[in-house]
Amino acid sequence: MSSPINISAPGKVSYSSLSVSPSATFHSPPASQGQSFMASNLAHRAAPKHLKPFNTEDIKILLLENVNQTGQDILKGQGYQVEFQKASLPEDQLIEKIRDVHVIGIRSKTKLTAKVLAEAKNLLVVGCFCIGTNQVDLDYAAKHGIAVFNSPFANSRSVAELVIAEIITLARQLGDRSNEMHRGTWNKVSNKCWEIRGKTLGIVGYGHIGSQLSVLAEAMGMVVIYYDVVTLMAIGSARQVPSLDDLLQQADFVTLHVPETPETKNMISAKQFEKMKSGAYLINASRGTVVDIPALIKASRAGKIAGAALDVFPNEPAGNGDYFNAELNTWGDDLRSLSNLILTPHIGGSTEEAQRAIGVEVADALVRYINQGITLGSVNLPEVNMRSLTLDEPNHARIIYIHRNVPGVLRKVNEILADHNVDKQISDSKGDIAYLMADVSAVKPEDIKDIRDNLDALSSRVLTRILY
Ligand SMILES: NC(=O)c1ccc[n+]([C@@H]2O[C@H](COP(=O)([O-])OP(=O)(O)OC[C@H]3O[C@@H](n4cnc5c(N)ncnc54)[C@H](O)[C@@H]3O)[C@@H](O)[C@H]2O)c1
Repeated sequence: MSSPINISAPGKVSYSSLSVSPSATFHSPPASQGQSFMASNLAHRAAPKHLKPFNTEDIKILLLENVNQTGQDILKGQGYQVEFQKASLPEDQLIEKIRDVHVIGIRSKTKLTAKVLAEAKNLLVVGCFCIGTNQVDLDYAAKHGIAVFNSPFANSRSVAELVIAEIITLARQLGDRSNEMHRGTWNKVSNKCWEIRGKTLGIVGYGHIGSQLSVLAEAMGMVVIYYDVVTLMAIGSARQVPSLDDLLQQADFVTLHVPETPETKNMISAKQFEKMKSGAYLINASRGTVVDIPALIKASRAGKIAGAALDVFPNEPAGNGDYFNAELNTWGDDLRSLSNLILTPHIGGSTEEAQRAIGVEVADALVRYINQGITLGSVNLPEVNMRSLTLDEPNHARIIYIHRNVPGVLRKVNEILADHNVDKQISDSKGDIAYLMADVSAVKPEDIKDIRDNLDALSSRVLTRILY
């Protein structure tokens, strides 16, 4: 067991047992036989590798909701103490547990409200092993220096593949034929069943999913056009069109891949259905608010639309069960009565591969944040990156100062750092919160303690962390 240096008593460097929060305590690296921080660093000088801020076994992580094994493996590989639970916890148990941990990993069912986060005195960072983050009070977390990470794009390929499946399924009316067979009806038809080769796919929103889809669709012989608010480089032979109307007038299949914003609400409504080719198909695997469903029902009943696939809905149930009915969405029964309509319960990104990729992406972000203070990918703190310290740079320390974004802070911080050699420094802000990182060299443990005490005394302080 190593003998960490704990600089918690004013003006005094003492050797003590591992303790309290990494956000409040400066530990030595895992030096052997009671070596000092400096001696330990010098001894390892020849072996360049990333430095660690704490003894890693001191980092306590709680993973809830069956976070993928890939994520667990990465975190355990760092030597962190990882507790894993398959389910989410009721609020009282969550509050009990969260008091003790530095990191919590959740999926969509765990609600990290201000009430819960207020109890999380040691919490440095939240990993949402999913796409969305609205289960976390992001503003409260930022104001208390708790970074939140998620994985917004790890399932792009899964969504693109689902859309490819739906294009063929709609063109061949596979959903209806399958339903008929389940009911015992043999109905062999070729009328209005099509190959997709040579047909035009119109992609609305050419981002992570839209551009993946473009590649797959062209490989199957489709002509791809896309509309996006941003001018984007086309992949393969795809072609950007200047307006949504242009796209609607040309496409045999229209597929939506835009975010949920005020501009995209009911982006496809009665007017847009009128613009579409007769017998065209609509696919929505983006967000439920993007399509005006009563208008779709009308267009479908009028024969204007030959079929549609919907994976997302304006109101979606919180859990699995018999909830997809007129109580959830008033038009529910009318929608379900349409033919050549594929309905899926928001499964576009739900694959084993996507879960694994999410596990890796979020766990990597957590490790970077814990070990190096890098906030790249954080949804609630400014994104700040700085090359990591290595053992080639002995006696360096990385100062992280999360503070309220008010005038005059940088001057005060730089006064505190002024007597030291600041090798590199970076600062950025997001709303009310700013994030500053500075690497200082040739610092002794007592210097680091002074820096910490002085930063902690500033009225702008949210959180000070020191890594080395
Ligand atoms: N069904 C699922 O399971 C599932 C899974 C993942 C993502 N999604 C959803 O898919 C959608 C797209 O995801 P992504 O990862 O490709 O996002 P992205 O941010 O990579 O791409 C979105 C694109 O839409 C464009 N855009 C924004 N507003 C627009 C507008 N008004 N008109 C035209 N283009 C506009 C942007 O410029 C961007 O290129 C999102 O709504 C996301 O929530 C659904």
